[in-house]
Amino acid sequence: MNQIQWFPGHMAKAKREAKEKLNLVDLVIELTDARIPESSRNPVITEIINQKPSILALNKADLADPNLTKHWIQHYQEQGQIALAIDAQHQLGLNELKKACKDLMVDFFAKQKAKGVKPRAIRLMILGIPNVGKSTLINRFVGKNQAQTGNKPGVTKAQRWLKIGKEFELLDTPGILWPKFEDPLTGYHLALTGAIKDQLVEMQELSLVLIGHLEQFYPGLLKEFYHLEDYHQEMAAAEILTSLTQTLKLDQDYTQAAERLIFDFRQHKLGSITLDRPIERVNIETNH
Ligand code: G4P
Repeated sequence: MNQIQWFPGHMAKAKREAKEKLNLVDLVIELTDARIPESSRNPVITEIINQKPSILALNKADLADPNLTKHWIQHYQEQGQIALAIDAQHQLGLNELKKACKDLMVDFFAKQKAKGVKPRAIRLMILGIPNVGKSTLINRFVGKNQAQTGNKPGVTKAQRWLKIGKEFELLDTPGILWPKFEDPLTGYHLALTGAIKDQLVEMQELSLVLIGHLEQFYPGLLKEFYHLEDYHQEMAAAEILTSLTQTLKLDQDYTQAAERLIFDFRQHKLGSITLDRPIERVNIETNH
């Protein structure tokens, strides 16, 4: 799914489809990547959601820096947005997510009941940019690979509801939004987490952004992890890439060294790291 090239026509179609799905549901789960909570939010999301009750779920919390995840959640909650961290792959936080959905709908169903309307399941949809874990969450919610079945090309697309116990019905296909590319740092963060495809970015350049971030916020991590031989604190990012290339014995193949570093970051080998940082907050402790 993350191989889609987004053109204005695609964006308009995605927006239209997301809005259509939205009409069918009571509540939206907006999914983002906890390593890049802001970069993985689509700029038109609030316009698309348009006053619908929504819960912001920061997925892949297992890969993100737990202290920063806490800060981000607090930041969103201060803005009046219900937010929580989940790890869809390992099914962590999913009960809390369901509870948050129920809590959000309590008033609505109480009013319905008062009008004599019979109680029914809460209708949900999942919305987010590619690669944040939408299909994984759908599959974990309902068990097995049900999310795939509605996606066959050429099959007329009727919306299907997947049951999650008695209390929820989930649209079988998520709403897909496009990532935003307006500022370079957002683009780099999307690329580092694999949300936009590698062919669109230069790997050495990307690795320098990652090295700069790690050196600033997780100092000493690269030195220790790769046992960089000639490391010293004042090294520029490009010098660290050179040092890494030498340490890995890659014979001046800086691109391969860059790819290795980015791969290790994506594979969680470097530890739990968050790239987006709440700007206005100071004294954020990190786990390294
Ligand atoms: P999407 O529908 O939003 O596009 O995302 P999808 O569920 O396909 O998930 C994208 C990748 O993220 C998958 O890896 C999936 O296993 C992983 N993922 C989803 N949720 C979590 C999570 O909570 N924690 C971790 N660590 N990983 C998660 P993949 O199959 O390896 O695909 P890819 O790496 O080739 O994109």
